[in-house]
Amino acid sequence: MTRYEQIKAELLASPKTWLITGVAGFIGSNLLEQLLKLNQIVVGLDNFATGHQHNLDEVKGLVTFEQWQGFNFIEGDIRNYQDCEVALFNESEGVDYVLHQAALGSVPRSIADPVTTNAANITGFLNMLQAAKEAKVKSFTYAASSSTYGDHPALPKVEENIGNPLSPYAVTKYVNELYAGVYAKTYNFKTIGLRYFNVFGQRQDPNGAYAAVIPKWTAAMIQGDEVFINGDGETSRDFCFIENTVQMNILAATASDDAKDNVYNVAVGDRTTLNDLYKAIQTALIECDIKSVQKPTYQDFRAGDVRHSQADVSKAKTNLGYTPEYKISHGISKAMPWYKEFLANK
Ligand SMILES: NC(=O)c1ccc[n+]([C@@H]2O[C@H](COP(=O)([O-])OP(=O)(O)OC[C@H]3O[C@@H](n4cnc5c(N)ncnc54)[C@H](O)[C@@H]3O)[C@@H](O)[C@H]2O)c1
Repeated sequence: MTRYEQIKAELLASPKTWLITGVAGFIGSNLLEQLLKLNQIVVGLDNFATGHQHNLDEVKGLVTFEQWQGFNFIEGDIRNYQDCEVALFNESEGVDYVLHQAALGSVPRSIADPVTTNAANITGFLNMLQAAKEAKVKSFTYAASSSTYGDHPALPKVEENIGNPLSPYAVTKYVNELYAGVYAKTYNFKTIGLRYFNVFGQRQDPNGAYAAVIPKWTAAMIQGDEVFINGDGETSRDFCFIENTVQMNILAATASDDAKDNVYNVAVGDRTTLNDLYKAIQTALIECDIKSVQKPTYQDFRAGDVRHSQADVSKAKTNLGYTPEYKISHGISKAMPWYKEFLANK
């Protein structure tokens, strides 16, 4: 039995109370779905900056009536300290585990508007961290980012070796880690940061200027629009299917004290070029009876992007018992039917 299977059995036997910030977003709504399916009590906080009510509605349709009764949504903003307190003190018994996902993602968004990104990602983070410490929660797990590796050239990326940030977004995620370290030293409030590497899957938003590459290309291929590849297509990433990310959050939240005051890579440990990704999406769409024959259009490299990214996930395996179940092709095949249906119902 893996540690993940064991923890899930324990949670089913003895449900806990969780707070998910950014619950209406891609990762947040997938965490919500898994936790409700495990009969947990979940408080969700979101201001719908980039999240959607339809993500919450979809989860409602995927769980039982009783499970949905365990969910309490609070529309609020992590930039307001009071909203963080309201979310933490909403349940009479208090919150056991915090999964802090709320932030403004996207490197280009942060380059276009660093001030707004800073407010959500640094002020909002500090508010949640401080409020969670005051609330004496059992654990605080937060969404960090592979962007923290910045210009460090080594591959694969090992948690201890980071370079200089290449974007305002990367600065914000690094500052989160610095605050987390200081809270461990100063207040003995030990957290876990999860450095996500290009997460993808169902409910990742394909719309808007800052959509991530997999949903953006998938939507374009389904709709017959032009697909743009930044650079020569040999840029590579360690794409991580959402189920692996959900697993890591649950493992981190329930980790022993020794594993805390740490950051962990969340990925698979593989590297896929954009050219290969393009072909993988085309193949998966054929499995959904969608034939996309167009060729991609190559354009300039994008500012702030790192050239290659690949994680070493051995620290997560050793300390948390992480067993990444999904490789990229398996994840893409699982996600495609969702995109087909989502885009058909638009
Ligand atoms: N998706 C990835 O590949 C990836 C990679 C690295 C890090 N991350 C981090 O993971 C987290 C979740 O990302 P996602 O991909 O689900 O993005 P998302 O945009 O789908 O979700 C973020 C959620 O946070 C909410 N939010 C933003 N600002 C808020 C505020 N001030 N108050 C309350 N809620 C607010 C949004 O409305 C949204 O629902 C973010 O912290 C992001 O930086 C994601």
